[in-house]
Parts: sequence; C-alpha cells; structure tokens
Amino acid sequence: MAIAWSDNLLMLGVEDIDADHKQKIEALNRVDFLIEQEAEPEVVAKALHDLMTGTVEHFAREEKLMRRTKYPALPAHAELHREFLERLGKLHAASFHGQGQMDARAELDFFSDWMSVHIQNADRNFVHWLHPEK
Ligand SMILES: [Fe+2]
Ligand SMILES: [Fe+2]
Repeated sequence: MAIAWSDNLLMLGVEDIDADHKQKIEALNRVDFLIEQEAEPEVVAKALHDLMTGTVEHFAREEKLMRRTKYPALPAHAELHREFLERLGKLHAASFHGQGQMDARAELDFFSDWMSVHIQNADRNFVHWLHPEK
C-alpha cells in the first residue's frame, strides 16, 4: 500500500533528510502504483531501478553524515540499510524473470512498512542524537 506523507510522523526537522525521505516515499509509491495497475514488467523494473539507485544514494548520504559526526549506532543502522537494499535488489532481479517469481505486492507492503518504521525509529534516533533539541 502507498505511504501517505505525514509531517507529524515522518518529518524529522532536518531539511535535507526530510526532502530525501519525501522523494524516497514518492519513488516507493510509484512502484506500488505500477504494480497495482499491473503495468508492463519493463515499466515496473525501471521504476524499481530508480527506487534502488535513489535509496542507495540516500543511505550513503545518511551514513556519511553519521561517520562525520561519529554516531555510535552507525554499524547497526548501516546493517538495516544493507538488509533493505539486499531485499530490494532481489525483487528487482526477480522482476526481470516474469511473474510468479515473487509476490511483488507483498514485497512492496514490506518495503513501505519498513521505510515508514525506519524513518520513525532509526532515523529519528539519529536526528535526536545529532540535534537533541529536535
Ligand atoms: Fe533515511
Ligand atoms: Fe536510515
């Protein structure tokens, strides 16, 4: 299911990170929409590819900031990022092999939940650590 952006739940108060998260959610929602619409496999694969490259960049930016600020929970946080990308990579690979390889809808539900929970917990913890006033 699509994620509705919510300032209350998802906005962390750091402009770059928030803008990045909004974009990631839009990219996720686009893949979700295309799968729901049963779009052509190449169209879904392209949207998945865009989501993947955008997410790789986002995670790299976050981890760079965490390294620079010597965030103590960086290893655990980076591991979460790695697991997410691994699973997303599997869906992307499966999307090139026709239908029935993987339940794409269930996977998209997992990614949407994951992203929402990750922002509200792991990313929020980092922002709180970095800016205790936020
Ligand atoms: Fe994030
Ligand atoms: Fe993160």
